[in-house]
Amino acid sequence: MCGIVGVVGNKNACDILMQGLEKLEYRGYDSAGIFVTNDSKNSKLIKSVGRIADLREKIGIDVAGTAGIGHTRWATHGKPSETNAHPHTSADGRFVLVHNGVIENYLEIKSEYLAADTFKGETDTEVAVHLIAALAEKEGLNTLNAFKKALTIIEGSYAFALMATEEPDVIYVAKNKSPLLIGLDDGYNMVCSDAMAMIRETSEFMEIHDKELVVLTKDAVEIQDMDGKIISRDSYIAELDLSDIGKGTYPFYMLKEIDEQPAVMRKLSQVYADENGAVKVDEKIVASLAESDRIYIIAAGTSYNAGYASKFLLEELTEKPVELGIASEWGYNMPRLSDKPFFIFLSQSGETADSRQVLVKANELGVPSLTVTNVPGSTLSREASFTMLLHAGPEIAVASTKAYTAQIAALAFLAKAVGIAINNKKAIEFDVVHELSIVAQSIEATLSEKELIESKVTGLLETTRNAFYIGRGQDYYVSMEASLKLKEISYIQCEGFAAGELKHGTIALIEDNTPVLALISNNPKVSAHTRGNVSEVAARGANVVAIVEQAAAIAGDDIIVNNVHPYLSSISMVVPTQLIAYYASLHRGLDVDKPRNLAKSVTVE
Ligand code: F6R
Repeated sequence: MCGIVGVVGNKNACDILMQGLEKLEYRGYDSAGIFVTNDSKNSKLIKSVGRIADLREKIGIDVAGTAGIGHTRWATHGKPSETNAHPHTSADGRFVLVHNGVIENYLEIKSEYLAADTFKGETDTEVAVHLIAALAEKEGLNTLNAFKKALTIIEGSYAFALMATEEPDVIYVAKNKSPLLIGLDDGYNMVCSDAMAMIRETSEFMEIHDKELVVLTKDAVEIQDMDGKIISRDSYIAELDLSDIGKGTYPFYMLKEIDEQPAVMRKLSQVYADENGAVKVDEKIVASLAESDRIYIIAAGTSYNAGYASKFLLEELTEKPVELGIASEWGYNMPRLSDKPFFIFLSQSGETADSRQVLVKANELGVPSLTVTNVPGSTLSREASFTMLLHAGPEIAVASTKAYTAQIAALAFLAKAVGIAINNKKAIEFDVVHELSIVAQSIEATLSEKELIESKVTGLLETTRNAFYIGRGQDYYVSMEASLKLKEISYIQCEGFAAGELKHGTIALIEDNTPVLALISNNPKVSAHTRGNVSEVAARGANVVAIVEQAAAIAGDDIIVNNVHPYLSSISMVVPTQLIAYYASLHRGLDVDKPRNLAKSVTVE
């Protein structure tokens, strides 16, 4: 959802900005731009529609500069164009601004403070830079005070980095609800939407909190609140590994991340269990959850699907009902809660604005909450009562894969720990470490069948406009995720459907050669019924691919998945569907890692 980077005090400013933008490209990739300046106030503003590579081509050789700001955009207001790309400048050219977020009252600001002919494009950000310039001019304010005053007028979410052409050695920074972090190094400092984009330069970071303003120079970081009170804050060292964010020999991050899943399963066992296999989950989390009478899982997209995939396991082992909430709905329509609710926020990025607005409400209500996230120090992790980390390593491909499976596995440890605390027999008997090691092996077996999986779906999904995933029980939840994955990277319209529900209307859509991918894990209660539904669609001309767990397989099934414990079948069953989406996208000639219209971290509501 737009990425921001800024650097001050380094003679390779342009290179640092471009490297940073490349790392941030997952946050948005419809246009990009940089502003670079130096002590002689020679500055350059370069923008381009398209990817960071297009911007790089336009820049040619590095632009000499010691400071600058850059931006990669995911359009919210105004189509992707050079005019709408950031950085934006004030009409007098004095101020240059990049922004991530949404200024909610931009129309009011426009009509109240600014002349109609001031605007070049349609973005809300342009309003902010013109407002700063108008306040500076009309009220004779310096940059800091004009910025500060503008922030008292602006409503909404923002991460801003502002430069004034007469001060080439200062970046003014402010944040509210959108992520932003300071990076510190010897003789120069940086600001960025996330730590990964700065790790080539530094491992020392400093948090910025909402409604704070930062004056960043090459050797000082001054944080203040809106009243000008100086805030002192310690920096911290983040243990991030540059090699984690490389693609290695893989053509796409998505394939690398799919392949990493067995290792992630094993890593989670190391983190959440001791060498004897006893689970190790923070006692405070366990006690708080054990006291509750209902679990509410709030999430979006793939994380929401992971919540469903974990519902059965959580209910079985914790003896509590589990209710799912779509974050973007619950932010506005919080349903009636139980007497002792416990909220779990599932979020790979820990930054999803929709989830965060529910968390803010939960905090207002005093409801205990747990964020399960892949990103330490992320907003949702800081603001919830508790955090559990996914330890999946950076997930760079926009389509989430290893975070989904890690979420289910992490919740398995939590469910087991709570189950033990309440003396639940099934929890005591469930050997999560052993069962996850079997899951890791099952995933490895699936990964060794990539060619087979590719061959089963290549022709089928190369040109089709629509497809269905069907399944019952846990397989229905997996089909929700499988269809999301296929949709987002192959642009095939795909529904994940409860197999038994098809006959109540949707089966009308089945015609000759409609691809129907059936998920059948080893659940004797439902597998025969799903087979019945497969026959129904086949009789109407559907082209069926059966993805079946070994113990439920029959001759003629297409893709066989090794058996795992039923609590964890969503993990092993989803892997072939991730590969199916990958190969569908690949064979349709698409950019697997950066599908159109999407961004990895969705920091607007
Ligand atoms: C799909 C995908 C998205 C995210 C969703 C929530 O592959 O990645 O659907 O799952 O935007 O993001 P997080 O988990 O970061 O809160």
